Order: sequence, then structure tokens, then C-alpha cells
Amino acid sequence: MTLWGGRFSDGPDDVLWAYTASHTDRRLLEVDVEGSIAHVGMLGRVGILSDEETAMLGDGLRAILTEAEAGAFEFSESDEDVHSAVERRLIELVGDSGRKLHTGRSRNDQIALDLRLYLLRAAEERMEQLAGFALTLADLAEGHVETVVPSYTHLQQAQAVPLGHHLLAFAWMAVRDRDRFADLSKRLDVSPLGAGASGGSSLLLDPADVAKSLGMAGVFENSMDAVASRDVVAEYAWVCAQSMVSASRLAEELILWASQEFGWVTFADGLTTGSSALPHKKNPDIAELARGKAAGTIGDLTALLALQKGLPLTYNRDLQEDKEHVFRADDTLAGTLVAITALHESAEFHPPAPSPWVTALDLAEVLVERGLPFRRAHEAVGKLVASLVAEGRSLDQATFIDLAAAHEEFIESDLARIDPVDSINRRATPGGGSTESVHHQIERLRTAIS
Ligand code: ARG
Repeated sequence: MTLWGGRFSDGPDDVLWAYTASHTDRRLLEVDVEGSIAHVGMLGRVGILSDEETAMLGDGLRAILTEAEAGAFEFSESDEDVHSAVERRLIELVGDSGRKLHTGRSRNDQIALDLRLYLLRAAEERMEQLAGFALTLADLAEGHVETVVPSYTHLQQAQAVPLGHHLLAFAWMAVRDRDRFADLSKRLDVSPLGAGASGGSSLLLDPADVAKSLGMAGVFENSMDAVASRDVVAEYAWVCAQSMVSASRLAEELILWASQEFGWVTFADGLTTGSSALPHKKNPDIAELARGKAAGTIGDLTALLALQKGLPLTYNRDLQEDKEHVFRADDTLAGTLVAITALHESAEFHPPAPSPWVTALDLAEVLVERGLPFRRAHEAVGKLVASLVAEGRSLDQATFIDLAAAHEEFIESDLARIDPVDSINRRATPGGGSTESVHHQIERLRTAIS
């Protein structure tokens, strides 16, 4: 059923229909009906619909909602989009008064509302998933406060840190991603209904009443902005993309760590895959696909930005394409969070000790404690490193003679500083890679989430 037959002598051509009718919006069915229920309630309260009509339309819509919730709602090929489908069904159920549903409304404000309601709920789910993932990382970190690994810069071993500290870096990223969903939800939580096609209506509608029945916090300030803008949709996709990018960085680490060269982590058999050719393989495909799928969400975000850039105000049919991208970005993030959370729950970490070189800075800081300018201390330890490297020795093979040759301020007990565990134990920076900091972070992270 089209909602616009009046001025046309002919029905829509199959070619037009195949190209323009929307199926992607079918997942908006429930929120679309809920928006209509609120709209009808408002039309009744302001006296545009009689009490009898209000009750009849409300009952019809509630019956449709029940069908939708039961998965029993039947779309027809002749439905141009979800809005047309609901109106068609309502007329089937309640007869001619169903034709009053669209009073004071356009599909332009309706779709803007549907998308906001849908994304508000999706954001809640993503926030829960991100919090759950961050907690999984915190639990893992708690089990690896004493596990010493090198932190890396330039993928070269840098300083010793607890493995828990490394894992918590990703937990904090997940907390911020969760907070981003919470923050954009404030901007989503504004009802555009009443904006109509672009300029509002001559009817005495009450947009605030609709917003209130939907539990939304605010009402549009400008009807043209309300129907034309998709910035919050793009923002949603950005948070999906950013969350996926963080997940992808973590995935990349897991892939490296699972390699024979690193040997830091083993995943459960059930969460890894084999090779059709190589009998010995155990591949971290979940992590590889998380990394791969991040590319798609970046594409979805790019598409949503490009979709808006040349559009004149207000609504243009181009905007129908927004759903495909934002739904896909959201689905990708949702699925990825399920998979990587499970992967982490199954992970067993057993990293080898870092190389002794990770304590080079500690040696330099010994000299700083004795009053040397850092640059001098750096130079002295650099010379020590160079002579050890030239002799094919590592830092833990240095003797007091080597230290004394590097700088006269070294004393014999400084040799004890060439120990990654000692390095971590002396780490004093709040939020730095000490065991104390890891415990403190776990506590703060759990508080931030609860
Ligand atoms: N299916 C459309 C969309 O997804 C709904 C709005 C259509 N409005 C219109 N005037 N054709 O954006």
C-alpha cells in the first residue's frame, strides 16, 4: 500500500518498487508502533481524535504491537516501508478510522523518531556489553597482578609492567566507549515528532505530550533540523567504529600473543579454529575477524558522513540509506563484544619473562636519585648497554665492574635493580605499571561500572 496514491494516475512501477521500497527498516516495527501509540494518545488528548477513535486506534496499534512482539506481523510486498505496513495493518484491523493515524504527522518526523527510539535501546545494550567486557578484563587483570610482561613502544620491549596493567588499558578504553554511548544517548533522547514534513502543522499538536508518553527527555527545537539531521546517527556509528577499533587493537595483540614467537596466551579449543591443510594449526579466528570487521564499521561511519554532506534541508530519500549503515555498525559491535568477551574468559596467559633490558631506565633513575641530570644518566646507561651489546651480553650479565665503568656513582647493590620484578615494585607513578596501581585500578574500574 502506498500512502500517497491520490495525485498519481498509475500505480508504482515494479522497477521503482524494487529500487526504493525499504526492507531494512523492518526491525523498527516495534518502535514505530510505540511511536504511533504515543501519537494517537496525543491526538486524543488535544481533541483532534474523539475518545472513541482514540480508543479504537490505540487498541488496533496495541494488537499490532502484540503481533510484532510475537514475530507474527506479516509484511506485504506492497508495503513501501515499515510505516506503510503498520498503517495498512491498522486499517485492516479497525477499518476506515485507521486512516486518521497519520494526522499531523509525516514519515519524515516518524522515521527520525523511530531511529532515535531504536538506537536509544541499542545503546543501552551496548553499554551493558561494554561494561561486561571491561569487567571480564578486570577479572583477568586481578589474576595477573604478579605476572610480569614487557610493555612495548615501537614494538620493542620498553619497561616491565604487570600483565594486568596491560589488560586494564583495554578495560579503560571499553569504559570510555560505554560512556560515549551514555553521552550520545542524551542527544538521541529528543523527540522529533510534530516536526511533520519539515515545518510543523496547523493542527494544535502537542509534541511535548508525545515525548512524555515515550519517556523521552526533550522535544525538537527546530522542525527542519528535526527531520533533516542525522548527526546523532553518525555519532552512534562513530562510537561503534571507535569501540571496534579498540577491540581491533586488542585483537591484534591477542593474535601476536597467541603466536609461537610470543607464546603468551592459549585459547580454549572451542573458541579457535583449525586448518583444512595444516594439521597442527590452532587459529585465533575470533580475534582476526574482530580486527577485520572493524574495517566495515569504519566504512559504515564514512558512509553516514558522506550521506549527509551534500544534502539540502530537509528530508531527502537518501536518508533511507542511513539505517543500513548504522544497523550494521551496531550489529557488528554487538556480535564482536559477545565473541571477544568469551575469548577472554577462555584465555590462559603464560607470558615468558621480559628481557632484562626493560630495566635500563631503572638503572638511569638510580643515578638521577643521586643527583645526576637525567640526560647524563641516560648517556651513562646507554654506554653500558652499548658495551654489553658489543660483547654479546645482556643487561643481567652486567657486573659491578661494568656499572662502575659506566658511571662512578653506581654502587654494587645497584645490580639488584636489574630485575623486572624489582622494577615493578619500585614503580611509584599513580596509574603506572605497579602492582599497587593495578589493584587500585581494578577497584576504581569496578566502581565506575557499578
Ligand atoms: N523509508 C523512509 C526512510 O527510511 C521513511 C521516510 C520516507 N519519507 C518520504 N517522504 N518518502 O527514510
